[in-house]
Amino acid sequence: MIFGKTLVVTGVSSGIGARTAELAVSLGADVIGIDMKEPAIASSNFIKGDLSNPAGIEAVVRQLPKRFDALLNIAGISGKVGTEATLAINFYGLRAFTEAVAPRIREGGAVVNVASIAGYGWRANLERAKAMVAEKGFPDIKAVMAKNGVSNEEGYPLSKELLLLWTQKAAHEPLFKEHGVRVNAVSPGPVETQILKEFRSVLGDEKVDSDISRVGRAATASDIAPVILFLASDGARWINGANIANDGGLEASINADVLGF
Ligand SMILES: NC(=O)c1ccc[n+]([C@@H]2O[C@H](COP(=O)([O-])OP(=O)(O)OC[C@H]3O[C@@H](n4cnc5c(N)ncnc54)[C@H](O)[C@@H]3O)[C@@H](O)[C@H]2O)c1
Repeated sequence: MIFGKTLVVTGVSSGIGARTAELAVSLGADVIGIDMKEPAIASSNFIKGDLSNPAGIEAVVRQLPKRFDALLNIAGISGKVGTEATLAINFYGLRAFTEAVAPRIREGGAVVNVASIAGYGWRANLERAKAMVAEKGFPDIKAVMAKNGVSNEEGYPLSKELLLLWTQKAAHEPLFKEHGVRVNAVSPGPVETQILKEFRSVLGDEKVDSDISRVGRAATASDIAPVILFLASDGARWINGANIANDGGLEASINADVLGF
């Protein structure tokens, strides 16, 4: 159900994006990969670009075909470089890029956003998330942070909270809904990729090890890729505005603690 489709994959040069692209190609899809780093295996279908600012986004959009079937938003950073840069790539850049290319996605197509268990707090921090998602386009992120009392340490979880809220909103926005384009999210727990080392320094070993010990191991990119492709496929045609926890049971375990069951 992915055979013959054209998928645009961001973050294609490493980790989850690289594995997702490899699996998609093996299943007969065409992949157009985007990343700021070169991929390990050179590809004629690769666009080098920086999706964290309007000019970089525009340059990538210009090189994309007029029509494709799905956008897989996988590129992301850990938060180590501070909140402004993290929100720029993980949320505001992702959203600006998605809105720019939405009209090119064929009817019946999909957007898949890779969020995270780190965005679990979106309900607890709902008012802040609503205010920050309500900022249109690519805002002055420093000003948005000041207005919402955001610190320089909370960029990663905050970026994923905004992404989870926006995924649900976008599913009902005319830009997607009226064109038959579904918008969903996948939320991994810890995954053995480059970024996990940085999470250890940003979130602390204790938090990462506690998450891993709740479910027995960290995921590999191969645990995540098939679920991303499922959401992009026709098999998920009735799934819209959803977040799939793809974390070995981590969210269920945290829910049990937080909700007391
Ligand atoms: N690894 C984990 O533990 C984990 C857990 C939950 C969610 N995630 C999410 O999964 C996604 C993929 O992460 P990963 O684990 O594969 O990490 P990774 O570091 O291996 O890959 C991320 C890729 O995104 C690219 N990228 C970063 N900034 C970019 C930009 N401005 N423009 C274009 N490309 C850019 C990087 O060059 C890199 O190739 C991220 O959104 C991350 O937040 C990861």
